[in-house]
Amino acid sequence: MRATEQAHLLIRKAVKPGDWVVDATVGNGHDTHFLAGLVGPRGRVFGFDVQEIALAAAAERLGGQSQVKFIHAGHEALEAHLPSEGHGKLAAVMFNLGYLPGAPREIITRSETTLNALGQALNHLAIHGLVTLVVYPGHPGGDVEAADVRSYVQQLPQIFHVTRHGQINSPSTAPELIVIERQGTGSASARKI
Ligand SMILES: C[S@@+](CC[C@H](N)C(=O)[O-])C[C@H]1O[C@@H](n2cnc3c(N)ncnc32)[C@H](O)[C@@H]1O
Repeated sequence: MRATEQAHLLIRKAVKPGDWVVDATVGNGHDTHFLAGLVGPRGRVFGFDVQEIALAAAAERLGGQSQVKFIHAGHEALEAHLPSEGHGKLAAVMFNLGYLPGAPREIITRSETTLNALGQALNHLAIHGLVTLVVYPGHPGGDVEAADVRSYVQQLPQIFHVTRHGQINSPSTAPELIVIERQGTGSASARKI
């Protein structure tokens, strides 16, 4: 099963109608569409992307579902765009890293902003909420980002349960799903090791 499909499988179990969720990398809007269906009209989906072309494609796919708010900004601005009612209440945050399929590959997600956004997402995650990250070590820049995400999640406090999902017989360049579940209260600051 592909990493993106596995992410959907787990998110489907964690998100219910009325929940608040974030799509941290909207791209062509497949994940946004999926999340909008899960939370329904009473829920909220906040979708971030730095590329206008991506948000336009996603908006077309979604056809004006009122529970979705598209935000033309980097996911590192998550907290600034999340209304206070959503603080600490996110049921899910999805990151599908890398570049927009079919677009020039100069615009890719990068470690510094990804980890900044991940820290904010974890701070606003509800108990039993999930963050999913699909990392792509197979493209230039994606290898560094995947390694940085892996070492960041290893140092999270134990209120976060971290799992890595991948086939053990797949190449090291294959996409990988990393899932973080909040299991207790407290901040996401990495513990000292
Ligand atoms: C692999 S695509 C996402 C695919 C998407 N989830 C879908 O379902 O179609 C990665 C996206 O991340 C976006 N991106 C790059 N840097 C970003 C940032 N700092 N904040 C938010 N999005 C970013 C890119 O523009 C690109 O559209």
